[in-house]
Amino acid sequence: MYKSHTCGELRSSQIGETVTLAGWVHNFRNHGGVTFIDLRDRFGIVQVVGNPEVNQELLPLKEARSEWVLQVTGKVRARMEGATNPNLDTGEIEVAVKSVQVLNKAKMLPILINKDEEVDEHLRLKYRYLDLRRDTMRHNLELRHHTIKFIRDYLDGQSFLDIETPILFKTTPEGARDYLVPSRVHPGQFYALPQSPQQLKQMLMVAGVERYFQIARCFRDEDQRGDRQPEFTQLDLEMSFVERDDVMGLAEKMFTELVASVVPEKKLLASPWPRITYQESMERFGKDNPDIRFGLELVNIGDLVANCGFGVFEETIASGGEVRGINAKGLGDYSRKKIDALTDYVKANGGAKGLAYMALTSTGEMRSSFAKFLTENVKDAILEKMEAKNGDLLLFVADQTEVMFESLGRLRVHLGDLLELRDPNLLGFCWITDFPFVFWNEDEKRWDPSHHLFTSPMPEDIPLLEKDTAKARGQQYDMVLNNYEVGGGSIRIHQGDLQEKVFKLIGLDPDVAKERFGHMLEAFQYGAPPHGGIAIGMDRFVMLLAGAPNIREVIAFPKNQNARDVMGDAPSPAEEKQLVELHIKLRE
Ligand code: AMO
Ligand code: AMP
Repeated sequence: MYKSHTCGELRSSQIGETVTLAGWVHNFRNHGGVTFIDLRDRFGIVQVVGNPEVNQELLPLKEARSEWVLQVTGKVRARMEGATNPNLDTGEIEVAVKSVQVLNKAKMLPILINKDEEVDEHLRLKYRYLDLRRDTMRHNLELRHHTIKFIRDYLDGQSFLDIETPILFKTTPEGARDYLVPSRVHPGQFYALPQSPQQLKQMLMVAGVERYFQIARCFRDEDQRGDRQPEFTQLDLEMSFVERDDVMGLAEKMFTELVASVVPEKKLLASPWPRITYQESMERFGKDNPDIRFGLELVNIGDLVANCGFGVFEETIASGGEVRGINAKGLGDYSRKKIDALTDYVKANGGAKGLAYMALTSTGEMRSSFAKFLTENVKDAILEKMEAKNGDLLLFVADQTEVMFESLGRLRVHLGDLLELRDPNLLGFCWITDFPFVFWNEDEKRWDPSHHLFTSPMPEDIPLLEKDTAKARGQQYDMVLNNYEVGGGSIRIHQGDLQEKVFKLIGLDPDVAKERFGHMLEAFQYGAPPHGGIAIGMDRFVMLLAGAPNIREVIAFPKNQNARDVMGDAPSPAEEKQLVELHIKLRE
């Protein structure tokens, strides 16, 4: 072995012991002939000291530069008075080096390991193996490991079986584009990488497994965002003979215990987790993945402004739109310039055409972009409904429902940031339930499943599917945390005839359905048990536990925003010989 101890474990109790350490040069400095090196390995940092002027054999200590790999043998001793470092676990001691060996040298580094400074992300991704040496990244890898370890142990304790499902399979749609893999053996045919193990886990229920889970890699060819990657990881699970409450209850208990065990410094906002219907979530927060750690909820003033005198509001209501507002408490003294910046924000984030405001300064004066059009009565009614006080800033968006919610939903979160209301140590878990079963797709003129096409409608809403389609609710649930959808699941359809009815509703041609999902429809004819499950996005969840700004920070080797791996430089062209073998001819 290269080392007797790790760099992080030495303490005063080991003073006098001779130890051998190996690691990287984190920092180095020379003082009057004496060389001090902070030697780092995964487990910590320790100061090692030697004087090459007294002992020629220690010359490599003086020559060593950042990230050289050294092995040193020496004696643990107390640091001199005044030289202890309370910021370091090993700060009471140092190692007086007797011999040193250079295990490897390092070139000048393209990024710094020992300082947490802003580095161009492209460089960080290109030199990811260096980036991962940094303290925050090591911490994120550890956090992810502990999170997944907890889940595996927990589910093992609940009689779940961890079962792998194929990566080379058939399309398993979750609403994104598929990644296809051409088959050499079957010319012109393709595997699709699973967007999730959805079909396979349902097949495992038909197989009698009853409780399945997997830490599963999923693949979706969709536009990248901070919380999306082309390949990502789900905790995927499925259970037989369960109802919604069983699945949600299991997940809630597991994640509550996980937080206490893995991130005890974080606090849950509420326990049990609030359950909010989709409709209520939209009305209060403007979105179905709300941040419930703070107020600033939306208020509907539509009934007050239908004939208020302000054209923008009146016309919006007349054309079937809505007017809602947010009381940004405490921003009443905002300058015109800052309010304009909020206006630009909603225009760019949500598509509102404008942002009308009433600002009440702390001394009670009103500044407003539209109050001059209103009668006193209407103005007072709005102030009352918005619960306005001196020092408040009331912000309004008038638009068609979808744009209005999108704009105010995002503005609310933005205001939460500006007002520092989003406490990073609070975890505001909640469940969103009672989603519409299908959404109308105006472009394609058809109903799209709001979750996926194996989700069961609410039993009492099945008659609505044909009569009042938009009103039918699905048996699905989303697990939401601090403005992110971290998980989603549902009770499934387990009867073939209901599944066929749903295919018909969403306009899936029976022949196409048979070709794509025939294996499932057939399986359901051999005694499929009632079943349901959930999948939690591990990358998003660990990102939130780590307080990281995007999921790339908690993935060892992520793709960049352009779906490219810049370290390995993938994707890259294939050789002509490979294309021939795969029976592929590239289009111009
Ligand atoms: P869904 O599509 O909602 O459900 O996905 C579940 C969770 O996976 C995460 N997620 C992603 N994370 C990173 N990058 C992506 N591109 C990405 N897409 C999704 C989200 C999301 O909540 N089979 C169903 C689950 C079920 O019904 O049991 C499914 O995949 O956190
Ligand atoms: P205008 O009539 O365009 O001068 O707008 C008067 C005020 O109403 C300005 O503060 C605009 O930002 C605001 N406004 C314009 N369109 C909308 C809208 N759709 N919703 C909310 N406010 C708007």
